[in-house]
Amino acid sequence: MAVNIDGRTKVWGLIGDPVEHTLSPLIQNTFAEITGINAAYVPLGVHEGLEEAVKGAHAFGFAGMNVTVPYKMKIMSLLSETDEAALNVGAVNTLKYTPEGYKGYNTDVTGFVRELEKYEVPVTGQDVIVIGAGGASRAVCEGLRQLFADHIYLLNRSLDKAREAYGEDTDITLLGLDEFNRIPEGKYTCIQCTSVGLPGNEKKAAIEDEDFYSLIETGVDLIYNPAETAFMKKVKEHGGKAYNGLCMLVYQAVAAFELVYDTKLPGEAVDRVFEILKEKFK
Ligand code: ATR
Repeated sequence: MAVNIDGRTKVWGLIGDPVEHTLSPLIQNTFAEITGINAAYVPLGVHEGLEEAVKGAHAFGFAGMNVTVPYKMKIMSLLSETDEAALNVGAVNTLKYTPEGYKGYNTDVTGFVRELEKYEVPVTGQDVIVIGAGGASRAVCEGLRQLFADHIYLLNRSLDKAREAYGEDTDITLLGLDEFNRIPEGKYTCIQCTSVGLPGNEKKAAIEDEDFYSLIETGVDLIYNPAETAFMKKVKEHGGKAYNGLCMLVYQAVAAFELVYDTKLPGEAVDRVFEILKEKFK
């Protein structure tokens, strides 16, 4: 990854707190290098003064930004416009420059949809199980809506938090983690959206009960490090297929680059980034 900075370089980056561990500069600067688009992607850590930061970025003419924790919701009131899918999720992760201000998008949704399409995960017209009720789960539920999934059974540790996130009158069936036996017998696609399984907790799955996994035909874990989570292992042990969240990570970045620079990335750029990341998370 070599970024040649000159007087015409367009700056963009990741706004969040913290931003030190992000992979986005590696991904986005690789896209810039391969396409020859003169853009430099930098970490933009903001501890205080989000509004000033957004105004300053606009004044500098930053082409766009990605947004991460803790600002995906908070930043929405500072935008000139927000795309419909992002409004449905209630969070943005990508901003694109317009003369009036930044327009907000949620490319986590696009990334998730593209991952399911790539692996041909069956969801259209089907009932689907989602585990988790945080920000990632809301992007997943919007993606499932776009793909015309039929009914969603959502399992979360805290039922109150799930109700708060989805509202009392949601058409999603909200259940506690130990209430999976209320889901009708069958074979489901299940999307794992909790943080359980991340490094430090990698031997754990949000649902440990083996009976649960006999319901799962295809499991998608949004976690990509480790490459095979405990959830994925359990799905496979029960004869199902399982995928991690690396594709979603890459495709949300692809969608952000394409949006901000009004371009279509060549397959070669996307493949290169996959190679780099697969090497990193073996
Ligand atoms: P993200 O933006 O990545 O979705 P988040 O909004 O903090 O992150 O949501 C984290 C999700 O992981 C939530 O569903 C959370 O459950 P609660 O709503 O009950 O807190 C879930 N989670 C975190 N730690 C968990 C654990 N030890 N067991 C089960 N679920 C857990």
